[in-house]
Amino acid sequence: MLHKKLKPFPKDFLWGASTSAYQVEGANLSHGKGPSVQDVKKVPEGTSDLTVCADFYHRYKEDIALMAEMGFKVYRFSISWSRILPQGTGEVNQEGIDFYNNVINECLKYNIIPLVTMFHFDMPQALEERGGWEKRESIDWFVNFAKVMYENFGDRVKYWLTINEQNVLILSGDIIGTTTLTGPEKYKSLYQQNHHMLVAQAKAMALCHEMVEGGKIGPAPNISLAYPASCKPEDQLAAQNLNAIRNWLYLDMAVYGEYNHLAWAFMEKRNATPHIEEGDMEILKNGHPDFIGFNYYSTATVAWCDENQGETFGHDQQKTRMEEGVYLGAANPNLPHTDFGWEIDPFGFRATIREMYSRYRLPMIVTENGLGAYDKLTEDGKVHDQYRIEYLRKHIEQIQLAITDGAEMMGYCPWSAIDLISTHEGMVKRYGFIYVDRDEFDLKTLDRYRKDSFYWYKKVIASNGEDL
Ligand code: BG6
Repeated sequence: MLHKKLKPFPKDFLWGASTSAYQVEGANLSHGKGPSVQDVKKVPEGTSDLTVCADFYHRYKEDIALMAEMGFKVYRFSISWSRILPQGTGEVNQEGIDFYNNVINECLKYNIIPLVTMFHFDMPQALEERGGWEKRESIDWFVNFAKVMYENFGDRVKYWLTINEQNVLILSGDIIGTTTLTGPEKYKSLYQQNHHMLVAQAKAMALCHEMVEGGKIGPAPNISLAYPASCKPEDQLAAQNLNAIRNWLYLDMAVYGEYNHLAWAFMEKRNATPHIEEGDMEILKNGHPDFIGFNYYSTATVAWCDENQGETFGHDQQKTRMEEGVYLGAANPNLPHTDFGWEIDPFGFRATIREMYSRYRLPMIVTENGLGAYDKLTEDGKVHDQYRIEYLRKHIEQIQLAITDGAEMMGYCPWSAIDLISTHEGMVKRYGFIYVDRDEFDLKTLDRYRKDSFYWYKKVIASNGEDL
């Protein structure tokens, strides 16, 4: 057998990890912060009490010191819109600006590059009440928020991500608590929201290049390559449909400023093509990302589906639902699962990276990837999360193979730097390298503990990915 020599990770490869504001900070209704949709949502299970989360708001110094101890080159975190602008527009909350300035400065103290997500599922509730993303004005609201961030942080933050998982907001908003829309009527509203987000993103990207000296910006969708459930030709069509609707719609728009034709045909079928104003297509063409950020947890598998067959595969942001006449989500019998039923597919990670690079030819940074599990703190303060190490190791190996295949990879930020509240499964579903001593409802000590994966990742970073 021929063994191909592996290309090393680039010297300046950005090793780090990610969090999001509403899942990690706490202090959600204090220190001048206005509520966001996440503070008022009803999630199907798990805690929706975000007053403490991992208490990052008060412990960011300790947490960033731990990230520095792991050797992080980059830390991806999001800025809460309603902490900066409690009403979404208008008055700025100086305490919010001070908080993020402190976080940024703390990162820089350790030479950790801040990678800032501008929007991670947390529309200010005040704007939601004014119609949210469905309103055309949402474009101006978001651009104004972007401007406030560039003005206040752009001298030190040079790497920006626009909207986290816009595709998940549209396809699974009911799971992550950003929409209550159901039934056939939902499509028209959702794809209008989608259009506004796309225009807002393009404007924010252009503005970044104008306002932030040396600023680089990109989108951060959740990309899962779709496999056909069998080699039946119809299943291949279903896979193309899902790939277009779930993945390429978002990236074709971010990179080329064009609506993907298959996704557009889907919107037509559902009577859901958005209203496009004069000048929008030009704005979309002028966005120009510098790189692509993307979250990857696993691939998807779909079969053809002529008629309504109900959902056979369950549904959350990683499980594909049924779209009559378009695709039917199916389990992949070749893949193992996490404790929470998500499929694990490191090979699919490489396939996803290859496909993205063939289509877009931009450098890429993985902005999420990881394993949600029921971690246990032992009496002597250890967490033996060998399963997480295995998951991450296998995925990092595939990044290196993808680099060897010719893809340009800038960095890797798994989910999550530290334990935090899951989107809909509370505190029991942990992802971090750092364990937070609290349960779903019992806040305990909130002390931090280094998991086994913490020491392992430190070694990976120190060896620039050679010692896995
Ligand atoms: C992504 C989100 O969908 O997956 C994160 O960007 C989220 O916010 C992560 O936490 C893991 O999902 P979950 O549902 O396990 O928290």
